Amino acid sequence: MLKKCKYIPILETDRLVLRELTEADVEDLRKWLGLDEVYTYWGRAASKGEKNPELLFIDARPHVKRKPAPDFIWGIERKDTHEVIGMIEVFDIENDRYGMVGYRIAPWLWNTGICTEAMKRVVEFIFSETVLDRLEGRADVRNIGSNRVLQKSGFQLEGTIRHGKMASQYCDYNIWGMIRDDISANK
Ligand SMILES: CC(C)(COP(=O)(O)OP(=O)(O)OC[C@H]1O[C@@H](n2cnc3c(N)ncnc32)[C@H](O)[C@@H]1OP(=O)(O)O)[C@@H](O)C(=O)NCCC(=O)NCCS
Repeated sequence: MLKKCKYIPILETDRLVLRELTEADVEDLRKWLGLDEVYTYWGRAASKGEKNPELLFIDARPHVKRKPAPDFIWGIERKDTHEVIGMIEVFDIENDRYGMVGYRIAPWLWNTGICTEAMKRVVEFIFSETVLDRLEGRADVRNIGSNRVLQKSGFQLEGTIRHGKMASQYCDYNIWGMIRDDISANK
């Protein structure tokens, strides 16, 4: 079994609730999810669904049988306003071992510590409530905020890929990793 829990758990921090997104969040998502500046270092432009978030809740091919993905995708809700102002994910989970982290925050809230607060809670959850052994994050070397989030959340810089491919674009990017042993070593 990949996870001890089979659902997207609700995680709380001081300022935030991380929870599953629903159709009721579409208007909040519309304010920021499709903005070009969110995708400057994402390796691709905003998708049709990101520009029109109502599409994210419609199954375009309802007849196709799909295995439920083991990924965790949380919306980040502010406790004070109840708005969804970000998303954080653990995706590409493989063989009960490994998952990639991804995250994006509404631009007007950048550099207020929100992503780091969310990431620290996700890290705590993954290493206490799932059997995953490794989390990995990749960030374009020019994406100072993203590299900083990973560093402040306890990931180790493992190397820099020169002229590598992130999604569909080529750039220099850093690989940051955290393994279960890092958590025990820091206790
Ligand atoms: C990357 C992103 C999620 C960071 O979210 P955030 O909530 O702003 O992150 P935090 O506030 O927790 O941390 C950002 C850190 O970077 C620092 N930072 C950002 N830009 C900086 C700059 N140009 N120079 C120096 N420091 C900078 C901030 O000061 C902060 O560090 P500090 O807390 O030590 O001061 C956000 O910028 C974003 O959504 N970007 C677009 C999507 C994206 O690129 N996602 C990652 C793809 S790999």
